[in-house]
Amino acid sequence: MKILITGAKGQVGSELVDQASRRGHDVHGYCSKELDISNSGQVNEKVLQVKPDVIINAAAYTYVDKAETEKELAYAVNSQGSENLATVCKKMNIPLLHISTDYVYDGEKQGPYLESDQAIPTGVYGASKLEGDQKIEQILSKYIILRVSWVFGDYGNNFVKTMLELAEHRNELSIVHDQFGAPTSAKAISRCLLDILENQRFNQPGCPWGIYNFQSDPGVNWYDFAQEIFQQSYRLGIINKQMKLNPIPSSEFPTPVKRPTNSKLDGTKLQLHFGLLPANWKVDLPLTLIHSSHN
Ligand SMILES: NC(=O)c1ccc[n+]([C@@H]2O[C@H](COP(=O)([O-])OP(=O)(O)OC[C@H]3O[C@@H](n4cnc5c(N)ncnc54)[C@H](OP(=O)(O)O)[C@@H]3O)[C@@H](O)[C@H]2O)c1
Repeated sequence: MKILITGAKGQVGSELVDQASRRGHDVHGYCSKELDISNSGQVNEKVLQVKPDVIINAAAYTYVDKAETEKELAYAVNSQGSENLATVCKKMNIPLLHISTDYVYDGEKQGPYLESDQAIPTGVYGASKLEGDQKIEQILSKYIILRVSWVFGDYGNNFVKTMLELAEHRNELSIVHDQFGAPTSAKAISRCLLDILENQRFNQPGCPWGIYNFQSDPGVNWYDFAQEIFQQSYRLGIINKQMKLNPIPSSEFPTPVKRPTNSKLDGTKLQLHFGLLPANWKVDLPLTLIHSSHN
């Protein structure tokens, strides 16, 4: 399949390009400098030139706190960018696979979020992503929006890399213990998106287009996640000391945007329609730890 991938140098975009190439697809990945999704002229020109069978949008403005002061830019990429891609997909009659976020939910629900739960973002980033999702739903009929949480991967910045960097100079860290969710590897997200587009139902009459929450297990808080990172790093010989971790409430680690208390996503719909099981983030973590320790 000829796949055009946007945001090809991001955490998920890089992984998608790798995996799709290894699966034998004809991959056309573009970073933000080569294809700015907020520029409709550029989007049209590139897509009409490449003529892909499908577009996967891994591009996004992802700075949760900075978005509060860079609102225009966040909306230009996350909302206008999604609209531009959906519009060209409609013109070409091709599907769009798009990645969304747990930040569209307010995090107040008890229990994992379903796709039917009301999206109530609490910050600019979440609101701009939600508007992007809504634009896609309005413009296109052939789309998959995959909502994911707490992404980590071999490329780009994430919590795993931050923990390893901190461990270089510190023996003790305080980590928030009252925000619950599920780390999700960029590898698992990429596998899921590629499995969807290789599914025999994909782009056939009756294809179950729509929004899907991608579940990753087990659910944890940030303190638990940090513990697992350091335990696995110690076992793999990436660090040579046991880190001392102190659980703290969010109130002791204030951020400009309040993080959702609960970000856990329910993946039943994905399993029902595409037969795809939830991911287990502990399986992919060692690979990212090894990759991160070498870079
Ligand atoms: N990271 C998370 O924890 C998380 C959680 C939930 C959902 N998500 C969603 O998952 C998806 C992938 O995120 P990620 O973690 O891979 O993010 P990432 O590492 O920040 O990658 C996003 C990529 O988009 C590119 N980009 C930014 N503006 C662009 C534009 N105008 N045109 C084209 N490309 C542009 C960035 O390029 P530059 O670096 O050159 O600007 C970057 O390479 C996003 O939709 C995000 O909202 C992420």
